[in-house]
Amino acid sequence: MIGGLFAKVFQRVPSLLYRVSLMMKPQVVFVLGGPGAGKGTQCSKIVESFNYTHLSAGDLLRAERAREGSESGQLISNYIKEGKIVPVEITINLLKKAMEETMQEDAKKFRFLIDGFPRNEDNLQGWKKVMEGKADVKFVLFFDCGNEVCIDRCLERGKSSGRSDDNRESLEKRIQTYLQSTRPIIDLYEERGKVHTIDASRCVDEVFADVKAVLDKEG
Ligand code: ADP
Ligand code: C5P
Ligand code: MG
Repeated sequence: MIGGLFAKVFQRVPSLLYRVSLMMKPQVVFVLGGPGAGKGTQCSKIVESFNYTHLSAGDLLRAERAREGSESGQLISNYIKEGKIVPVEITINLLKKAMEETMQEDAKKFRFLIDGFPRNEDNLQGWKKVMEGKADVKFVLFFDCGNEVCIDRCLERGKSSGRSDDNRESLEKRIQTYLQSTRPIIDLYEERGKVHTIDASRCVDEVFADVKAVLDKEG
């Protein structure tokens, strides 16, 4: 009798484990848009209302740049100032580590907003190599905003951000990188029907109303 019960329970272990692993597989929304489009601002608002963890690739790179003993600090610093995209080996490891740490701390935190990634073909290939099969990309939130508005917002942010790239010289390079390298990645996801485009040129609350509608629908 008891033996039979055990046998039944053990039979179900593999399927239970499979279900638990599915539950814990990171669910990812990529957040893209030009510099200053409002990605970080909107991600903070999403986190207030939805069960997501915000990971900004730029923030992670800036933290790694500042970390004592970092082997990549100088390289990251040069790339950021020049508005270039850091080799993905560095960025993907930071993202993976941040996701793992978040989920280790709280297994229910498996929904991520990955802000500012993938920004070019190298980023995309790095994601595929390291994360494909390990995380599901649900969709891309694309904050669409004219270049002039983006530049003005970053210059305004630059008055207090202390960022080495919120100046006109770096911004021109960042816009070029965005147009040449990031837009094609957004187009690629668009072709797969995976992009939600938000008009990000409006005020914060109007933008968020659209973001909220997308997340209410998509989860
Ligand atoms: P990103 O992460 O896309 O670079 P941020 O969220 O940091 O952009 O926003 C860039 C700057 O513009 C910040 O100073 C922010 O306060 C401001 N900002 C963000 N969204 C808006 C908006 N919809 N309208 C006006 N200013 C905004
Ligand atoms: O997204 P954010 O504006 O914070 O990015 C700042 C800079 O960080 C980028 O211009 C780029 O130099 C670097 N970055 C990167 N790869 C990413 C995201 C950011 O190299 N995926
Ligand atoms: Mg940002």
